[in-house]
Amino acid sequence: MKKESRKVIIAGNWKMNMTPKAAAETAAKTAELTAGKNGCEVVLCVPFVDIAAAMEATKGTNVKIGAQNVHFEKKGAFTGEIAADMLVECGVEYVIVGHSERRQYFGETDTTVNLRTKAALDAGMKVILCLGEVLAERQAGITEEIVAMQTKLDLAGIPADQIANVIIAYEPVWAIGTGLTATPEQAEEVCALIRATVAKLYGDAVAEAMTIQYGGSMNDGNAAELLSKVNVDGGLIGGASLVPEKFAKIVDAAQA
Ligand code: 13P
Repeated sequence: MKKESRKVIIAGNWKMNMTPKAAAETAAKTAELTAGKNGCEVVLCVPFVDIAAAMEATKGTNVKIGAQNVHFEKKGAFTGEIAADMLVECGVEYVIVGHSERRQYFGETDTTVNLRTKAALDAGMKVILCLGEVLAERQAGITEEIVAMQTKLDLAGIPADQIANVIIAYEPVWAIGTGLTATPEQAEEVCALIRATVAKLYGDAVAEAMTIQYGGSMNDGNAAELLSKVNVDGGLIGGASLVPEKFAKIVDAAQA
């Protein structure tokens, strides 16, 4: 399968930003500025409490509203957590799992990332599964080993027929929020490695069909070059997704 036949997804990760009122305004503006840009899927992953407001503000537009995490149990005594069925009932189609900030600050491991991914897939959601090396790992020359290992552990036990609902976001941790973007060549090299790892697990056809995003200081100035790479099928955007004008330019860059 050629890159052109894969689904390109430009997703914003708002992280812990925006009250519901601000979310409604920003989501509506994003929808307005990206109207008719059907060359890619446009998703905004917003804080849980913003989902309803953002959903309402983007009704009938091409912007989809996603969440930033999901718990692996269906319900129960897990204070502060949100279950997959709750998100589905709110109309959520996409959920981020395994973001490096969850791994770094909230003790998320490949085991819990794998469990959360399975729960979201079982509930019928699409998962944006984040992985990537930290700076020390890149400097030690073990990026390939780390990323291949994360890919295998995070996808462990997930049947091939569910993989169509998995998007992998390669987010080198050293590039997140730092202004240090991976070069297009670095992004391409690791996204290709992820695809090759998925091919070993599930075969070429499944791997070729998978959307693999790059994330880490992607902005309106560097998006076009990153997205021009054959194995980079979209972006997961933090800071620039908070500014509709900037985010819309990234969506523009994905129209080619
Ligand atoms: P920045 O775009 O702010 O670097 O964040 C990237 C990211 O973590 C998206 O999930």
